[in-house]
Amino acid sequence: GKVAVLFGGNSAEREVSLKSGQAVLDALLEAGVDAHAFDPASSSLTELVAAKFHRVLIMLHGRGGEDGTLQGALQQLGIPYTGSGVLGSALCMDKVRSKWIWQALGLPTAEYQVVDKSSFNADLCDDIMARLGGLVMVKPAQEGSSIGMAKVSDAAELSDAVQQAFQYDHQVLLERFITGQEFTVSLLGDKTLPSIRMQTPRTFYDYEAKYQANSTEYFCPSGLDSQAEALLGSLARRAFEALNGSGWGRVDFMQDKSGQFYLLEANTVPGMTQKSLVPMAAKQAGMSFSDLALEVLATSEL
Ligand code: DAL
Ligand code: MG
Repeated sequence: GKVAVLFGGNSAEREVSLKSGQAVLDALLEAGVDAHAFDPASSSLTELVAAKFHRVLIMLHGRGGEDGTLQGALQQLGIPYTGSGVLGSALCMDKVRSKWIWQALGLPTAEYQVVDKSSFNADLCDDIMARLGGLVMVKPAQEGSSIGMAKVSDAAELSDAVQQAFQYDHQVLLERFITGQEFTVSLLGDKTLPSIRMQTPRTFYDYEAKYQANSTEYFCPSGLDSQAEALLGSLARRAFEALNGSGWGRVDFMQDKSGQFYLLEANTVPGMTQKSLVPMAAKQAGMSFSDLALEVLATSEL
C-alpha cells in the first residue's frame, strides 16, 4: 500500500525531523516501498485520507508529532501509524510524568524537583541547588534534542536557566546531574539493540554535540560487560513499557561512578539522522538503515 512518511512539522525539532524523515523516505524508496513525503506543517491530515494513504510512518519529533496528539488524530481517521499510541506518546514526551511513573514502580531515576512558571521564585534557587547536589540539569518537561536545557552549578545560573526553559514549557524539571557516563538503548519491536555510550568534551550531550560537533564520540558496543548490558536492556524495556511505549523507541540513561544506572527519558520517535543513535545500534546488530526503516514501518501493523 501507499505510505506517507510524516516529517517536518512545527516543533522546535523541525530541523532534526527534516533530516530523519528524508533519510527514512529515501531508504523506503530504495527498498521499493510506495512512500511519499508529507509535512503536517503545510498539509492538513485530512489530505491523508483524500490521497488514500494506507499507513503512516511518523518521523516527527517533539510536540504535535511525538506527543500523542497526532496519534489520536490518525486513530480517529482510521489510518494505521508507526510506534506508540496516544498514551505512550504523551507520557514519554513528558519527562516529569515519566519520572513519577518510574519512581512509583521503583525504577531508578535521579533526584529532582519540578518548578512551574506560575509559582517559580528565584529565592528558591539556593535551596534547590543544595538539595540536588550542586550540579543540576534544567529541562523543559516536554522537549527533545536537549532544546531549552542547561547544566548549572550555582543559584544564579539556575535562575537564568529556568527562565530560559520556561520559554519552552510552563513546567521545568530540575534534576541532579549524575557524574559518570551516558548510555542509550534502542528498542525495535521485540529486539533490544546493543547499547551505545556517548561521550562529549562539551558540558553535556547538548544539541550541538548531538547533531553538529565532530568531537562527540560514540561507542557501540558500549564496553559494558554482558551482565551490565543485559541489566541496561531490561531496564530500558521495563521503563518503556511502564510508560505504555510500543513498537520502537530509545531509552536514555546515565551511569554513576559506582556503576548504578539512572533513567533519563524515553523517546517514542527517536532521531534517524546520519548522526543518530538508533541507526548506529541497528548497524551494530547487523541491520542496514533500510532494514531498520522497514522494521519501523512494520510497527504500524502491530
Ligand atoms: N528527540 C531526538 C530526535 C531523539 O531523541 O533522537
Ligand atoms: Mg528526548
